[in-house]
Amino acid sequence: MTARILDGKALAAAIEGSLHEEVEAFATASGRAPRLVVVLVGDLPASASYVAAKARAAARVGIDAEVVRATGSCDTASLVALVRGIAHGSHGPVDGILVQLPLPRQVDTLAVLDTVPADLDVDGFHPENAGLLSQGRPRFIPCTAAGVQRLLVDARIATAGRHAVIVGRSDIVGKPLALLLASRGPGGDATVTLCHSRTTDLADHCRAADILVAAVGQPGLITADMVRPGATVIDVGINRVGEDGGSRLVGDVDFAAVAAVAGAITPVPGGVGPLTVAMLLANTLLAAELRIGRR
Ligand code: GUN
Repeated sequence: MTARILDGKALAAAIEGSLHEEVEAFATASGRAPRLVVVLVGDLPASASYVAAKARAAARVGIDAEVVRATGSCDTASLVALVRGIAHGSHGPVDGILVQLPLPRQVDTLAVLDTVPADLDVDGFHPENAGLLSQGRPRFIPCTAAGVQRLLVDARIATAGRHAVIVGRSDIVGKPLALLLASRGPGGDATVTLCHSRTTDLADHCRAADILVAAVGQPGLITADMVRPGATVIDVGINRVGEDGGSRLVGDVDFAAVAAVAGAITPVPGGVGPLTVAMLLANTLLAAELRIGRR
């Protein structure tokens, strides 16, 4: 079997097209564009490139995005003060705040993230938003998890009654995605197994999956023998590899070998990544609309 390639780039472009219209309608009604402030700390090339991609995508749909930089040697208190200031309008009107992760080692990441008010939390990381998702009444859904579900729904890959196996239990992807796929409704109603670094017999769990999601950040983790023939494989990993300092992007899945076994598979790049960005834009518009009572 040769797997169907799930084209996240094309789907993200279509989502951006409809967001563009909704953003225009919002601007007409409110007299201003939705506004996103992104905090970028330090000089990690990967973070800089993700943030640049988010800012470019925001501009394409008419969302006003500002990137606020902080030095990599900053401490927790200064970042907390910066985020608190942004929330209170120090960088102009704001509908959404995103603090790009990872933060430098000396910074208490949770202390900084907890400073983002729940109604500006377009990443969906605030305990209130995580709690709403876990109760099945989501407000801001973490962007990558939302993107994976959207991709499955768009590709008409049934989830109801299917066994979804997620490898990786991060707060950003694995945990919220487990909740989403197990929740009631379209793109949900799956039976979910959440695997992690202490899981025994990982390959056996993976082989039991109708839908296998790899979200670990380990190139080559998922090999062809771990995939049931015909299964759907979603690769959330974004790893930089290569002799020249890591210029080539690969996921967590051995793509060529797994594509020969799977029924459908996402490529890296061009799979989940573009949808993460599209969902951030959707969350920013949602935040802006909630602010003025349009939703
Ligand atoms: N770094 C990698 N993924 C993400 C994400 O979804 N949100 C933020 N803020 N940082 C990230």
